[in-house]
Amino acid sequence: MATQTIVKRITGNAVTDMEIILEAAEIIKRGGLVAFPTETVYGLGANAFNPQAVKKIFEAKGRPQDNPLIAHISVLDMLDDLARDITFKAIDLAKAFWPGPLTMIFFKKETVPDEVSCNLPTIAVRFPENEIARLLIEKSGVPVAAPSANLSGRPSPTLAEHVIEDLYGKIDMIIDGGQCAHGIESTIVDLTLPGQPVILRPGSITTEMMSKVISECCSPSAYFDVKPIELNTPPKAPGMKYTHYAPKAKLILVSGTAIKAASAINRLIRANPSTKTGVLATTETKDLYDTSAVIKNAGSRETPEEIGYNLFRILREFDKTDVEIIYSEFLEEENFAASVMNRLKKAAGYEIINV
Ligand code: TXA
Ligand code: MG
Repeated sequence: MATQTIVKRITGNAVTDMEIILEAAEIIKRGGLVAFPTETVYGLGANAFNPQAVKKIFEAKGRPQDNPLIAHISVLDMLDDLARDITFKAIDLAKAFWPGPLTMIFFKKETVPDEVSCNLPTIAVRFPENEIARLLIEKSGVPVAAPSANLSGRPSPTLAEHVIEDLYGKIDMIIDGGQCAHGIESTIVDLTLPGQPVILRPGSITTEMMSKVISECCSPSAYFDVKPIELNTPPKAPGMKYTHYAPKAKLILVSGTAIKAASAINRLIRANPSTKTGVLATTETKDLYDTSAVIKNAGSRETPEEIGYNLFRILREFDKTDVEIIYSEFLEEENFAASVMNRLKKAAGYEIINV
């Protein structure tokens, strides 16, 4: 069903910006859908306590019905409306990393609609740092259920124009707040499992950072970097079993040192001269490639944060070219670079050439 979509840009003017936030908050209160920036990626928000509004999120995104949503809060008090059995460990993590790019999974209160949690006994909660997101939640007066504001399966949106591409005419409003600071989605940590907290999705808040705050180290879940078909048990974060972030062209990762990977990619380009090829390169390597390819620089290998910031935007930029295949370099999987590689591996459907 076509909907008139209002697009408003926040420019830093306190008066007009607040008008925009209030207009968006009215839409949330009325049961509508608003896309808004966060420090990770754009979210598609609805009143988490309005089941009809939450259902519209699934329709607009084409999201599978068993993939639960994160509830976003703007003050710690709101956590009490959503979660029960909040442990000291959770409070310590909240004190250290909220507001920020960390999502925690708690047992949910009865009052949380099953439409948000998709009938799980748990609820994912995040307190974003982005001021527009926080003000929108505050002025809406309710927790805001929000997945990433992309069509299911597409790269997450890091610019308002990505949301426009995917959801214009399907949602009520888009707040354009510029490019998201981190560029990849929040770290998800599950605090409901017996034993130590388990990371379900890596992000900007790394295992190393969390283990400095809580005495037991968080363990990465056994399945977050495994091909969905190789799983023996269903993943704890249901979203993990679906195809993610895929550009239109086939994406293949080439693992090896920067120089070996670049040489191998050049051989592949030369071996298939009639195939339009793209390369996801780095600052250090971009000039090593055959210029017959469409080369995009994701950022320096020295600063994986820069690569995370650019990654989804570049995957979408490749969609605007005529490339049929994209080769990407591989980063060493440590700290934040491991989170970036997690997204790239999913985007590539785990197709990796080792050189
Ligand atoms: O950074 C982010 O987290 C962004 C911004 C908008 O906040 N949101 C986001 O939401 O990435 P989404 O829906 O694209 O990804 C949420 C992931 C999904 O894989 C989902 O399965 C998982 O979180 N999830 C949500 N609720 C869960 C729960 N109760 N238990 C386990 N996993 C859950
Ligand atoms: Mg998503």
